[in-house]
Amino acid sequence: MKILITGGAGFIGSHLADRLVRDGHDIVVLDSLLRGNKLTKETFNKIRFIKGDVRNIDDVITASKDCDVIYHFAAVLGVDIVADNPVDTMDVEVIGTRNIIFAAELNNVKKVLYASTSGIYGHSVFENTLSEEVLVDPRTSYAMAKRFNEIYLASHNQERGLESISLRFFNVYGLRQDTRMVVPKFFEQAMENAPITVFGNGEQTRDFTYIDDTIEACVRCMDIEGQEIINIANEHEYQIKDVAIAIKEITGSSSEIHYIEAPKKRYDYEVGRRVGSSEKLYDFCGFKPSTKLMEGLEKIYLNQYKKQR
Ligand SMILES: NC(=O)c1ccc[n+]([C@@H]2O[C@H](COP(=O)([O-])OP(=O)(O)OC[C@H]3O[C@@H](n4cnc5c(N)ncnc54)[C@H](O)[C@@H]3O)[C@@H](O)[C@H]2O)c1
Repeated sequence: MKILITGGAGFIGSHLADRLVRDGHDIVVLDSLLRGNKLTKETFNKIRFIKGDVRNIDDVITASKDCDVIYHFAAVLGVDIVADNPVDTMDVEVIGTRNIIFAAELNNVKKVLYASTSGIYGHSVFENTLSEEVLVDPRTSYAMAKRFNEIYLASHNQERGLESISLRFFNVYGLRQDTRMVVPKFFEQAMENAPITVFGNGEQTRDFTYIDDTIEACVRCMDIEGQEIINIANEHEYQIKDVAIAIKEITGSSSEIHYIEAPKKRYDYEVGRRVGSSEKLYDFCGFKPSTKLMEGLEKIYLNQYKKQR
C-alpha cells in the first residue's frame, strides 16, 4: 500500500516508517522538521520525504496523492512547549486535521489513523483503569484539540464515510525519543550524574508503553474498519519516582534524586494517576502491549546510552 505518515520524522512516526518500509509498503513522510529528523538513514533512503506543514493544504494534498492510508501524527507536544505555545498547538492539530480530511477525500484515501492521547482523560478518573467508555476531561489546549479531532473524525465518518481510527497513546517511550519526555530526560540526567529532577513527591503514576508494542498496535489497527477510538496502553502503572530509581540503577549513575515543585504552568498536566485498558485493542487486533518497564528501559540503555560510556 501507499501510506502517508505526517510527523514521520518524529519519535513514533520514524519507528512506524521503519516498520512499514520493512513490511514492503510505499511510504511518504510529511514533516516540518520542527523537532529535527529522527528517521534513520536507511529508512530515509527508502521513502519519499516532503518537508512541509500540515497547516498548508497544498503540502497535504501533494503528500497524500494516491495514498491508501494516512497516519496523522504531526503535532506540537511536550508539556512545557505546549504550555508556552497554546495557539500553535491548536492550529497544528485543528487546521492540520481539517486539511487531512479535505485531502483524504480529494485523493480517495480510505482511512486515517490519528494520534490521540491518554491526556484527554485528564483528571476525570482516579480509581479506575481507563477504558474508552470513561467520560473524558481534557483541560489543556493539547488535550482539547486531540478530543476535538476525535469527534471531528468520527462525525466525518458518519457524514461522508472516511474511515478513521483514533489511537489514544499512553506515555510511549523508546529509542530516539528526546528530552521533552520524562524517560529520556531522566536518562540524560543520570548519564551526566546530574540530579534527576522529579516533580512533586513522585508518587503520581503513568502507564508506560514501549515503542515496539505501540508500533505493533498501530500497524494492526490499520485493519480495523469504520470508525473507532482505541487505547494503546500497557495496563501497568508506575510511580514516577520508581522510574527515576530504575534509570539510576540501570545506568549505574551517582545522580541524586531531587523532588521539586512543578512549575505552575504544568498543573493541568500533573494528573495523580493514569493507567489504561487495552481490552478493546485486544478484542479488535488480538494483541496488547506487554513489554515490562524494566525490560524497555534496559533496551534503551543498551542500544542508545551505553555507547556513550
Ligand atoms: N510520545 C508520546 O508519549 C505520545 C503520547 C500521546 C500522544 N502522542 C501523539 O503521537 C504523535 C507523535 O508523537 P511523537 O512522540 O512522535 O512526537 P514528536 O514531536 O517526536 O513528533 C511529531 C512530529 O510532528 C512534526 N510536526 C510538528 N508540527 C508540524 C507541522 N505543522 N507540520 C508537519 N509536521 C509537524 C515534528 O517535526 C515532529 O517530527 C503526536 O500526534 C502526539 O501528540 C504521543
